[in-house]
Amino acid sequence: TPTEPLTVLGKTYPRDEWTNATPTILSKVGRNLHLQEGHPLSTLRGIIENHFEGYQSVRTESPIVTVHQNFDELGFPKDHPGRSKTDSYYVNAEHMLRTHTSAHEVESYRSDKNAFLIAADVYRRDEIDSSHYPVFHQMEGMRIWDQGDLSELKAENARLAAELAKSPLQVEDDTVVGPSNPYQAKHDPEHAAEITQNLKHRLNGLILKLFGHVAAAKGEPLRIRWIEATFPWTSPSFEVEVWFNDDWLEILGCGVVMQQTLETSGMGHKAGWAFGLGLERIAMVLFDIQDIRLFWSTDSRFLNQFEQGRINTFKPYSKYPPVNRDMSFWLPDAAVEGREPWHENDYCEIVRNVAGDLVENVSLIDDFTHPKTGRRSLAYRINYRSMDRSLRNEDVNELQAEVEKQVVEALGIEMK
Ligand code: PHE
Repeated sequence: TPTEPLTVLGKTYPRDEWTNATPTILSKVGRNLHLQEGHPLSTLRGIIENHFEGYQSVRTESPIVTVHQNFDELGFPKDHPGRSKTDSYYVNAEHMLRTHTSAHEVESYRSDKNAFLIAADVYRRDEIDSSHYPVFHQMEGMRIWDQGDLSELKAENARLAAELAKSPLQVEDDTVVGPSNPYQAKHDPEHAAEITQNLKHRLNGLILKLFGHVAAAKGEPLRIRWIEATFPWTSPSFEVEVWFNDDWLEILGCGVVMQQTLETSGMGHKAGWAFGLGLERIAMVLFDIQDIRLFWSTDSRFLNQFEQGRINTFKPYSKYPPVNRDMSFWLPDAAVEGREPWHENDYCEIVRNVAGDLVENVSLIDDFTHPKTGRRSLAYRINYRSMDRSLRNEDVNELQAEVEKQVVEALGIEMK
């Protein structure tokens, strides 16, 4: 195991037993697709920034934040699953690659501004398929008011409601604010209700801006659905889905910011809302980009199809044939060998480190437990496909052999 410190964007971080950020993932740091002129993610960011006129656009220096910023400060319980090494990339016990743009909420509130947008790259260990990539982009929006100014919100909300009422919009909202998703005890419920209304109007307006033309082309109203949710730093909390291509697409999480979070920033006299949305998920449907790896392509056949500010449908230039390889193995006896319990994300991480963007999909095809010995075996199908060339069998065999070697070493499995 390597011992030299990690260097990211000119800063050095010592390794420790928490370090699991790999060279493969760190090589993505600094690409900043959301700022690359003409890139679909940049266009989407720009449209959202234009929609929220007057909001301060916050640019962050590095995706490395403290564990405190990413989790503690936002009230994540100590045993929250997102903290696990199988789900997040740690630089060391103290620093990590942010898993969401919410990691920058507290420091943003600290400035004297009242409305912010943060677009940034975020990192999560995950499975491998056409819609999951270990780096993606989020946008955080926040608006806060001096609590003394909240009575002004009524008029603004009435104006927003009147504007939205003129639009072909069908909002389905059965959410209730109650014991499981309450207004905060520290808030005047009337004020909290106005903040919640403002959040809903603003986000309905954004979604109308992004998706309205698609529904209009079909002669249908745009359907938006509000659902109750839980986040440690908001209450009440919601998720929002939009009806697109005959299915509900979940696009964002949001809520009224916990007063504790504002107090941490020294802004306890203010109150407001925050939301966070994933840019890839929205861009994939708006630009009709079917494979999330394409966003990382430097192929001119991809990049030349787009220009900053314009949403157009991507025309796939070719699909090279996939090559499948199966791998079946016995899991180690974790209890006997003192190993971490099996986690698919650890397996996928190794596959990504070996094959990079040549891997399209990893799927479990068999899960068997021997009735007598209790030993468990798994079989995975790895689907290799390049986005810009035909893969040769020899190349894939080599990749597959390397994956086998590394998973045997790192995870203690035994090939069948
Ligand atoms: N950070 C949350 C996520 O990644 C989204 C969110 C942002 C929820 C702001 C509430 C407020 O899912």
